Amino acid sequence: MNSPVMQGLNLQAPSFVKNARLMAWVADMVALCKPESVHWCDGSAEEYDRLCQQLVDAGTFRKLDPVKRPNSYLACSDPSDVARVEDRTFICSNTREEAGPTNNWMAPAEMRATLQPLFDGCMKGRTMYVVPFSMGPLGSPIAHIGIELSDSPYVAVNMSIMTRMGKAVYDVLGVNGEFVPCVHTVGAPLEPGQADVSWPCNQTKYIVHYPETREIWSYGSGYGGNALLGKKCFALRIASNMGRDEGWLAEHMLILGVTSPEGKKYHVAAAFPSACGKTNFAMLIPPKGFEGWRVTTIGDDIAWIKPGADGRLYAINPEAGYFGVAPGTNTRTNPNCMASLDKNVIFTNVALTDDGDVWWENMSPPPAHCIDWQGKDWTPEIAAQTGAKAAHPNARFTVAAINNPALDAEWDNPAGVPIDAFIFGGRRSTTVPLVTEARDWVEGVYMAATMGSETTAAAGGAQGVVRRDPFAMLPFTGYNMSDYFQHWLSLGRKLQAGGARLPKIYTTNWFRKGEDGKFVWPGYGENMRVLKWMIDRIEGRVPGQDNVFGVGPAYEEINWNGLDFTPQQFAQVTDIDQAAWRQELQLHAELFEQLAYHLPQELKDTKAKIEERLG
Ligand code: OXD
Ligand code: MN
Repeated sequence: MNSPVMQGLNLQAPSFVKNARLMAWVADMVALCKPESVHWCDGSAEEYDRLCQQLVDAGTFRKLDPVKRPNSYLACSDPSDVARVEDRTFICSNTREEAGPTNNWMAPAEMRATLQPLFDGCMKGRTMYVVPFSMGPLGSPIAHIGIELSDSPYVAVNMSIMTRMGKAVYDVLGVNGEFVPCVHTVGAPLEPGQADVSWPCNQTKYIVHYPETREIWSYGSGYGGNALLGKKCFALRIASNMGRDEGWLAEHMLILGVTSPEGKKYHVAAAFPSACGKTNFAMLIPPKGFEGWRVTTIGDDIAWIKPGADGRLYAINPEAGYFGVAPGTNTRTNPNCMASLDKNVIFTNVALTDDGDVWWENMSPPPAHCIDWQGKDWTPEIAAQTGAKAAHPNARFTVAAINNPALDAEWDNPAGVPIDAFIFGGRRSTTVPLVTEARDWVEGVYMAATMGSETTAAAGGAQGVVRRDPFAMLPFTGYNMSDYFQHWLSLGRKLQAGGARLPKIYTTNWFRKGEDGKFVWPGYGENMRVLKWMIDRIEGRVPGQDNVFGVGPAYEEINWNGLDFTPQQFAQVTDIDQAAWRQELQLHAELFEQLAYHLPQELKDTKAKIEERLG
């Protein structure tokens, strides 16, 4: 009785769908989830507009003022569904060891048995959207295809901004092409006659990955990385598995181009933990004193990196849009981002102003009144009394990359861009200096592996606590973290053996604080000064200064034109406090204990060398 045909559901795929495996899988999932109807997304502008109107009618979207914010919408989520749920995220490899100690694990059979009753009938009364997407430029040898089945039209419209979504994907997929199947439900079936809510979700949540079969199953959340499955689930957790097996890298990195006044262009990929200013760095505007320099964005969050025939590493941005944190973004911290948000944006969990526009903390002077992300009145007075935030700290914007005025001309190049340097940068108020260059690949991998950062709102949970976040991949590596370190080491060794010059590796920290509790380094556009030092190092123009764990800049090696930053202040952000570092190494030791299974010997040796230098 449960078969879709029995339900009278028209399962006929549109004529542009030719892939037999896809059609069979959709039929199976319809039989399981029992949606009321199936919509095969074509990615057209009409479809986008129609779904947005449907979301407005359902009360999920509010259309913003068409003059102030053309073609833009505000969605406010259920207060229980505001961020990625790392404690509900599972890597279900065949064995616990393969998932490793940094991931939640359940045996695949046990997880399938757990999910089966939850997914049975989960889409009743709703439409199942079939969302075809390419991570990476369509047809690029670095790109891969996914199909997301979701009962959330909010997900469908966000995916159409965040990925290359639509009909053309089916052409690339063809009759026999491979895709990663991604099933998503908000977990809120509707009984006949039952009224819907504006943000359906379920208190029970599961974000599940099966690395062996390359599947993603997401239950109960409609928010961000829990639901837009192309992003963290596919482009990082599943893709890191593909990368290990096939000899490439899937990384939590922005990619930028930096062009000198002489017209020489460099490409940098940078890994910062969530909400540490990746979007700001990817859209950096060079400050005074850097006339003629230009920074352009290839990606703001994820990089897929493959060795080219010449042995160099080439990177693409698998995404086509930005799902960035709104609070704190303003015309001073990120003018390019603010310009990107002028039109065609979906905002989630920011505040609604009385003139039909949006506002968030530190966007501009606070409005006298607005409606906060939970639909309540908000005034600066209320905020002063209760601490209420107008926007949720993890409020987001979804916007197409093509809105970005600093978009790199090569951003959509199927061949990718050659990487000259990797940067790893945590948020640390003490201990870690402004910038350090690794003396070799292994030292760089060590720096990245032991990176720590103070936590922020993106992951939910406690904030301001230092947690180790290896490669900024702690919540995103889809297999054993020590094996992931080994993959980096092995890839580096292989490329070097082939005669390639590997990218240099740097670690940065923009967040050192003085005794007054304030940031010492001005950050934002001024980070260009550090970027320029890296380029000078790449070109062999400055000698740098050796220290216990790498090479740092001398004060005179940084271009200070246009900024008043004294040698004393410089010392405050670059000093290496031996006692603090002895403690830091203790924390590295704890991490290494946790990751002891398969931990590469080279990393243990590197740690021993640093300890020896520290004395
Ligand atoms: C993100 C994150 O949303 O890293 O990009 O959490
Ligand atoms: Mn991220």
